[in-house]
Amino acid sequence: MNKKRVFSGIQPTGQIHLGNYLGAVKNWVDSQSEYENIFCVVNSHAITTAQNPVELREKTYQLASMLLACGIDMKKSSLFIQSEIDEHPSLAWILDCNISMGEMNRMTQFKDKSLKNPTNVNVGLFNYPALMAADILLYQADGVPVGEDQKQHLELTRNVAMKFNRDFGECFKIPEPIIPKVGARVMGLDDPNNKMSKSALGTNHAIFLLDTPEEITKKIKKATTDSLNSIVFDKNRAGLYNLLNIYQILTNKSTEAIEKDFEGKGYGLFKSAVAEVIIENLRPIREKYQELSAEKGYIEEILKTGTQKVRPIAKATYDKVKELVGLI
Ligand code: AMP
Ligand code: TRP
Repeated sequence: MNKKRVFSGIQPTGQIHLGNYLGAVKNWVDSQSEYENIFCVVNSHAITTAQNPVELREKTYQLASMLLACGIDMKKSSLFIQSEIDEHPSLAWILDCNISMGEMNRMTQFKDKSLKNPTNVNVGLFNYPALMAADILLYQADGVPVGEDQKQHLELTRNVAMKFNRDFGECFKIPEPIIPKVGARVMGLDDPNNKMSKSALGTNHAIFLLDTPEEITKKIKKATTDSLNSIVFDKNRAGLYNLLNIYQILTNKSTEAIEKDFEGKGYGLFKSAVAEVIIENLRPIREKYQELSAEKGYIEEILKTGTQKVRPIAKATYDKVKELVGLI
């Protein structure tokens, strides 16, 4: 039986948080047996914002260790570093020449990021979705498990692939987004109207996977809620709704069961339960990470094996693209 292939990536730009985990990485781990999996630390994407070279290298290995600690299993999945395969930027260039300025101009993430960082609005940041499209299309992925914020980039990827196939001949698989029903958009704890992000400044904004139980408890206790003291799933009560969603994914309970469990109970008790379930879910990850981060040689070996496994796929696609375009 031929398994479908999934490809996904994550940037080594900061500590990985609960939004990354619930929106993306947990799903990569949970569906590993169902698919043929390729996961990538997208360090070339990371340099669209200013990075200290020494720290970037360090963070790249740390993220790889963290993905393994989360449960990425090398028997089922390949893990590699984007910059190790030259076909990524090479294909991005060819895709660039097939994406209109109009379509690229519509990308909302570029607008958000350039507003947040007005002193470094570079061409790479604008062009970021073409590199992401290249990542995916090189591996002929059937599916791309991501959080909701990547939906628009996926749409661009599909569009450029279809256009290329039409203009030059059948070449790329058209990938489907795989976006979770719950957890696709985890919001900031201090600001439940904005998504949890690595770069937000508030100390109570995000829960990082390496936070201690004390830190987690403190952040959840401080999480923004409202003054209505009933625990019900109501999208209009953004802070509570966010905590309920987090609780729901981590406990796998139904909406009704959760509302029933907390009927007549207040925020104090509910928040303790949320903190507890996060702590228990993150504990094994934190412990495993501590073990793995002491074994850099082992991580390097895994990444090398991953690169060797996926390189032929990237090369085959890129060679075909060049030929179709007339570049040899
Ligand atoms: P990034 O940190 O931007 O490289 O994102 C890595 C993955 O995490 C992508 O699939 C994103 O869609 C996902 N992600 C990032 N932030 C969130 C969030 N707040 N909620 C859900 N998913 C997220
Ligand atoms: N743009 C994604 C993000 O910021 C990261 C990414 C880069 C990615 N290349 C990818 C995700 C390919 C999925 C597939 O989250």
